[in-house]
Amino acid sequence: MYKVVMTRALLPEAQRILLERCDARVWDKEEVMPRDVLAEWLADADGLVAAPNIQIDGELLAQAPKLRVIAQTAVGCNNIDVAACTRRGIPVGYTPGVLVDATADLTFGLLLCAARRIHEGWDYVRQGKWRANKGMGLGVDLAGKTLGIAGMGRIGAAVAKRAAAFGMRVIYHNRTRRADDGDVGARYAALDELLRAADFVVVLLPLSAATRGAFGAEQFALMKPTAYFVNASRGAVVDTEALAEALATGRIAYAALDVTDPEPIPADHPLLMLPNVLVTPHIGSATAETRTAMAMLTADNMLAGLAGKPLPACVNESVNYKG
Ligand code: GLV
Repeated sequence: MYKVVMTRALLPEAQRILLERCDARVWDKEEVMPRDVLAEWLADADGLVAAPNIQIDGELLAQAPKLRVIAQTAVGCNNIDVAACTRRGIPVGYTPGVLVDATADLTFGLLLCAARRIHEGWDYVRQGKWRANKGMGLGVDLAGKTLGIAGMGRIGAAVAKRAAAFGMRVIYHNRTRRADDGDVGARYAALDELLRAADFVVVLLPLSAATRGAFGAEQFALMKPTAYFVNASRGAVVDTEALAEALATGRIAYAALDVTDPEPIPADHPLLMLPNVLVTPHIGSATAETRTAMAMLTADNMLAGLAGKPLPACVNESVNYKG
């Protein structure tokens, strides 16, 4: 039986499949799996089921001489040195597609919640301020406003669809312009133009050397003082200090974030002390159906790789197994 290391348990259906078909060793403690333990477990492992909170680099791979497949339960693979995997001929599985709607729902939900102060309203009721007839700040309309999406992949297109239903105009910026602007109902714009024009800026960029810190003081300075900033991709595409400064000084109006840098963000972090911020704990794909689909695709990727068959969803296709 192939030996598989799992850096955390998968949802039961997928976990059962892997436990039945592999000799799987699961890190089931609450703390993140320590790197030295992972290296030790990988010494004789054929497969690795990874999660975005674990760094996988060339040094770790060098301690895993038998490794023939990695399957990560996420679409973002910035925690994995994919080039190092490719050099060693290790295909990396991931979970695109299945999480598009759930992540778009959460992204648009954050935007709507911030614009209409839904979370503030709940606090207001719970703290007895309603009875005390204390005022609550006003939100803003969505209809007629411009949404600027930075990073227009499948999730961005799904957010654009939701925005259209709310009567918003959508513009987007991508490294490469999409051929189907008409179909996604969004107009291409240079990033500076997008930042100047948008009432809501939504960031859905993958994290890479090129996008790390892409939203900093310079970008916030271009935005409207009434603008809302939503990030549902990776915290490190934003300069957190610059964002906190922009929010504190009224350079922009509000931020709604599903991802932060660092992550998890400490409860006493200065960003969380601001009144005009809403933060959720990286729950973009966190629905029962979507997380189950992600776990099943992870198991499919792992079993295919162990059998030397093509992974159904592979980041580095050049080293994917051939059919
Ligand atoms: C979640 O952040 C993912 O990349 O799937």
